[in-house]
This record gives sequence, C-alpha cells and structure tokens, in this order.
Amino acid sequence: MNESDKRLAALAAVEEVRAGMSVGLGTGSTAAFAIEALGERVRGGLAVQAVATSLATEAHARAVGIALIDLPARIDLTIDGADEIDGALRAIKGAGGAMLREKVVAAASARMVVIADGSKRVAAIGAAKIPVETLPFARNFVAARLESLGAEVALRANFITNQGNSVLDCRFAPDIDHRRLAAEIAAIPGALGHGLFLTEVSAAYIATNGVVTRLER
Ligand code: A5P
Repeated sequence: MNESDKRLAALAAVEEVRAGMSVGLGTGSTAAFAIEALGERVRGGLAVQAVATSLATEAHARAVGIALIDLPARIDLTIDGADEIDGALRAIKGAGGAMLREKVVAAASARMVVIADGSKRVAAIGAAKIPVETLPFARNFVAARLESLGAEVALRANFITNQGNSVLDCRFAPDIDHRRLAAEIAAIPGALGHGLFLTEVSAAYIATNGVVTRLER
C-alpha cells in the first residue's frame, strides 16, 4: 500500500465534484484523502452536500468543514475505496466494516467512483475476504449458512459495526461465481449486507507509482 498513490487517486476523483452536487463520502484510509481534498475545495467556496458512510467519515467530514445531510433518494457522486477491484469494475469492500452503509450509498448514487492504490487492482476479484454484516442474534445461523456456501468463516474479533452488528469475514474459493454468491448471501435471513460490489462501480482511479489510471464502465 502506498499513501501517496492513495492521495493521487483521491485527488483525481475529487476533481469530478461540481458545485451543487450531493456527494457520498466513503470510509477508509483512501477515502480519507478524498475527504481532505474535498474539504479544501469547500473551504475555498465550493458548495456541496455530503452523505457519510460511517461515523468516522462523518466526524472527519465535519472537521474539514463539509456540510452533511441525511441520505437522500439520489446522490450525484460517491467516492469510496476498495479492498480489491478488477478490470470489470467489480469490487470487494468492507475491510473497515462499513460495507452496509457503503452499499446503500452506492446504490443511491448516480455515479460511484472507486479510488485505490495499485495494490488493490487485481485481474479478477476473489482473493480478499468477503465481509458479511450479521445480526448478532443470528450469528451462528448465518455462519453455518455461509459455510454451506463454501466459506471459511471467522467472526471479526472485538468489532461491532456502526449499526451495532457483527461481521463474519468469509474466505471463498477465488473462482466462485460471485454474481450467484452475492444473491445467495443476500437471501440469508440475518445477513444484513456484504462486501461484494459487482454492479455499483461506474469508474475507478487507480494510482501506481505516481501514475493515475482511470477505468470507466
Ligand atoms: C470500509 O469498510 C471499506 O470498504 C474501505 O473502503 C476499504 O476497506 C478500503 O479501505 P482502505 O482505503 O483503507 O484500504
């Protein structure tokens, strides 16, 4: 992971923000660079309204002067990080545990842009763990269902989400059918969200050794 590449990718994405937009703010170390950069533009006079995907992002946005609103029906542009992203703009997210709100915000967004350093760019997603946010009451049941789908499941230790839920980190065979898997996980009662983003991402800015590459769907 490369901090200056994360920053470069974030700066490129923040260039897309225009006055009057509603902006979804992602969570994680790469999204933090975007929040910094957007805060700088806001302090320079840019008028935007933002939606935060986590309590940490909310606090950061407030600290840099970005006005926050409740989630509207539609967001113009969301900028968020990823744990893995491939050339088809399929992503795995949620190492930071914010994937449930991130998925809602992504779904509400006319455009979702992923920002990442080159370590996140993969030929095909599937090596990263897929996190599943789970109702604590249903934890064992959901874990067993995930195992029956082929996962090696680990409860994320000492962690609860912003919604007060548990996270089950799942390792699946990398060549599993992710479209089918996403539907199967979504159908488990008690599983509230997962980190597979197969259709939400519109574009990505990936920075490698100081060079930013843009991928567009
Ligand atoms: C938060 O839950 C995640 O989806 C992050 O967006 C993702 O883990 C990327 O985080 P970093 O930018 O810190 O690698």
